[in-house]
Amino acid sequence: MKAAIITKFGKPDVIEITDLPQPKLKKGEVLIQVKAAALNPKDILIRKGKFKIATGSKFPMQIGHDLAGMVVDSNGSTMFKNGAEVFGMINGWSPRTCAEFLHVSEKELYWKPQNLSFEDAAGIPLAGQTALQAIRDMGNLKPNQKICINGASGGVGTLAIQISKILGGYITTVSSGRNLEFCHSLGADKMIDYSKEKITESDQKFDVFFDVFGNYSFPKTKHLLTKKGIYISTVPGGKIIIEQLKNPFRRQKAKLVVVKSKSQNLKWLYEKIETNLIKPVTDKVFPLGEIRAAQAYIETKRAKGKVIIKIE
Ligand SMILES: NC(=O)c1ccc[n+]([C@@H]2O[C@H](COP(=O)([O-])OP(=O)(O)OC[C@H]3O[C@@H](n4cnc5c(N)ncnc54)[C@H](OP(=O)(O)O)[C@@H]3O)[C@@H](O)[C@H]2O)c1
Repeated sequence: MKAAIITKFGKPDVIEITDLPQPKLKKGEVLIQVKAAALNPKDILIRKGKFKIATGSKFPMQIGHDLAGMVVDSNGSTMFKNGAEVFGMINGWSPRTCAEFLHVSEKELYWKPQNLSFEDAAGIPLAGQTALQAIRDMGNLKPNQKICINGASGGVGTLAIQISKILGGYITTVSSGRNLEFCHSLGADKMIDYSKEKITESDQKFDVFFDVFGNYSFPKTKHLLTKKGIYISTVPGGKIIIEQLKNPFRRQKAKLVVVKSKSQNLKWLYEKIETNLIKPVTDKVFPLGEIRAAQAYIETKRAKGKVIIKIE
């Protein structure tokens, strides 16, 4: 089967398309013919070797965590039959969705929303579950509470706006000026252009500050939080881990979201998509052969929604 791999850590030119043996299935796994995969900043960091401790350094290493495709060997699954159209995200550190076929646990999948193309569906699982787990589960956002989403126009941010809207939040977004109207169209109530106004100088108070882009920190934003306000970061590191350890001793909390793929969460997203409460935001679709350009585009940090790889 055709698959995208890296042959060493480095720039996008370490990516190649090669032929790999068809994956073998373990118990609880199904075989998927991948129709589309989405790229995420995690794929770039892996390529650069920033997560070496987790991925190891064994090459060739495959690419990709998000997928939409068709079950071609259900392997005794009680959930999916052959021919089922699914979407999902693989957990852990063995990326492999940018390929013609992949083996995946059925617990990391759900049925693809019927009103979405494979390309649009592939962009939902990682970004959507990150936003859902951060805002609903860690932020505990309730109707009429105020949330600030910093980095609102990217893959996670565009879904974070829509999920906050469903949960009834009053949403302030932080983006570049060119994306103000775009954030408003997705459900933002108040939009801030970071080149004109520093959110840290604002006199607003938020119940939840979701730092999607990751250029703030709990110490820099705690004055923006309500008494029991919650700061959530997407970017792992020593500082946020130390801040989390201090949580039991104060009312305001600092949290780090680490996304995990769960069929229950994919089901939640599926239901909101099928009822048109969530719409996918696909920026660009690249064929598998142009995955180097697709990764280079994500690295510009200017993507407006998701970057997708179509597997022909
Ligand atoms: N911990 C986890 O489980 C987890 C899961 C998913 C993602 N993440 C992390 O979350 C981060 C965002 O992921 P993503 O998929 O949303 O990335 P992305 O789609 O590549 O984000 C691109 C967006 O970043 C915005 N941006 C660029 N500079 C900015 C700035 N100075 N301030 C605010 N926004 C800015 C851009 O908006 P403008 O063009 O308007 O500036 C663009 O729309 C990444 O670091 C990723 O690794 C972590």
